[in-house]
Order: sequence, then structure tokens, then C-alpha cells
Amino acid sequence: MSKPRVIVTRRWPQEVEARLAEHFDVELNREDLPLDQDALKAAFSAADAVFPTVTDAIDAEVLAAEPLRARLIGNFGVGFNNIDLDAAKARGLTVTNTPEVLTDATADLAMALLLCVARRVGEGERHLRDGAWTGWRPTHMMGTQVTGKTLGLIGLGRIGQAMARRAHRGFDMRVLFFDPFPPAREVVRELGAERRETVEAVLEDSDFVSLHCPATPENRHLMNAQRLRGMKPGAFLINTARGDVVEEAALNDALGDGLIAGAGLDVFEREPEVLPALIARENVVLLPHLGSATRETRVAMGLKVLENAVAFFGGAEPPNRVA
Ligand code: DGY
Repeated sequence: MSKPRVIVTRRWPQEVEARLAEHFDVELNREDLPLDQDALKAAFSAADAVFPTVTDAIDAEVLAAEPLRARLIGNFGVGFNNIDLDAAKARGLTVTNTPEVLTDATADLAMALLLCVARRVGEGERHLRDGAWTGWRPTHMMGTQVTGKTLGLIGLGRIGQAMARRAHRGFDMRVLFFDPFPPAREVVRELGAERRETVEAVLEDSDFVSLHCPATPENRHLMNAQRLRGMKPGAFLINTARGDVVEEAALNDALGDGLIAGAGLDVFEREPEVLPALIARENVVLLPHLGSATRETRVAMGLKVLENAVAFFGGAEPPNRVA
């Protein structure tokens, strides 16, 4: 029997690409250049499955491909806001994602951003590399203490929980959270977290706010000008979720007006574009969407896509089906 034909839209870790070839007639993207919308659409006519990443917009137009050969979209990523799920369902496509395997890597990076912005790590590095350091002195580059402070989490799903564990156990932080679908009471108790009924109630009491909610239409600009004003003066905002959860221009204004002390951002509204005004700010730590970017995690993500696809083409229910 011939192997299902699969198109992979970007380069994956080499060992996973090799594993894909064992199971599928696979077309890899060795150049690693992003496919435009026409090329993505053509992929849906040419292959039984398309494996996009979170930066490929699999919208209704792409999914209108005729003839449609594909039956599976194996997204390389836990977030799937790049895919029009209604359009996929309407065309009879199954969609899978890659949860769990990137939880720790993403929480590690959120904690890294929190520490870097509080302790002025980016700024200090630039200062030293620029040759501006004249030596130790008691008032030099004083930052903000992290240990023992209050962390507010917007979203207490898998990554939010992993962040809570790091903050509470590692840094003795008090943890507050808002989540419309909170985890079981025992989980919350085990994390030492305290539930608040509204986003606002978390913001007003938190020294650090870290976003871990999905990119749904309801969460678009969840952190808008009004909510940013509602943060505790001198607090910091960390975003490793999705760029459009924060209204970037409003964040820039809040930083400019000194309403909050700083921000650590791994995701942006118009990636890979970043507001030049944010880039110019010393009190903002900026990373190029690296949440899951460890070798171990990226391999595990690829293997998850593979596992789902093998199940699907073997006639079984894929373990991480989202549509
Ligand atoms: C995801 O998986 O959704 C991340 O943003 C990329 O790893």
C-alpha cells in the first residue's frame, strides 16, 4: 500500500524529518522559506495531510482548495489560532495540535522573561557589551526583587500551572489567578494559588502579571489601555501566550506614562514586526517567539504531530484532535 502524502511547511529537527519519511511520502521544506497563501492552498490539493506551523495562516481561502485532497492538518504547535477551525470542519478536515510537550519549556521562558525584566538583565548586558560599565557601585542598575512577590496569572491551564509551580516553589511567590475554566480544587491547592473572580482583581494585587490564556476572539486585546491602567503601579507584564492578547500600542503608552515598570514579551501582534517604540525601551525584554524553542521540545512537538498522523491514517482517533 502506498504511503500517505504529507507536506511539511517549514524545516523541522532533522531526526523528526527522518522519522516522518519512515511513515509517509513526505515533501519537506529544505529551504525553510515560508509558503505564501497560494502555495499553502496548493498543498491542500496535492497531499493527504498538511503539517503547518503556528505562523502559517490556514484560513478559509486556503481551505477552499479545489480539488481538496487533504484530510488532516497536523499543526506543529499547541496554539491553533492560525487555523480557521470552522472552515476546516466544514471541509471535513481533522485538526491536531501538540499540547503537553512544550509546557515546561514555555513556563521556563516566561520565568526567564520575568527575571530578566525585573533584574534588568537585557539592559545590563547591553551596558557591559557597550563598554559603559565603570565598576560596581551601590546604586548601579538597581532592579526589583522577585522572591516573595505576588504573581498574577491570567489563565491556569497547563502552562499557567507550570508557571505557578516555578513561582511558588522556586521563588516563594504568592500566586493569584483568573481562569473562567479553573482546574480542580486539589490542583489549585497543590499550586498554592488563589482564585480571583475577575481579571481586574488579579491585576490590582499583582507585582507581576503573566498571560497564559488562549488566543480566542474574546481574549483579543484582553490587556487593553483600561486593564493596563488597572495594574498595580510599578508592576511588570509578561506575555508568552499570543501577541494579540495585548494591545501593543496601549502597552507602549502605559510604559511611556510610567503606569507599569516593564514588560517581558515573547509574542507580538504582528510577528515578526515589533513596534519600534517598544524596541527603543530599556525596560522591555523582547524575544523572537522562543517559548517552545528547546531542542528537546521541538523534537517532541514533531513526534506529537507524527503520532497523531500515524493514528489518523491507521484509522484510530488521533490523541490530540482539536477538530
Ligand atoms: C505554540 O505551540 O503555540 C507556540 O506558540 C509555538 O511553540
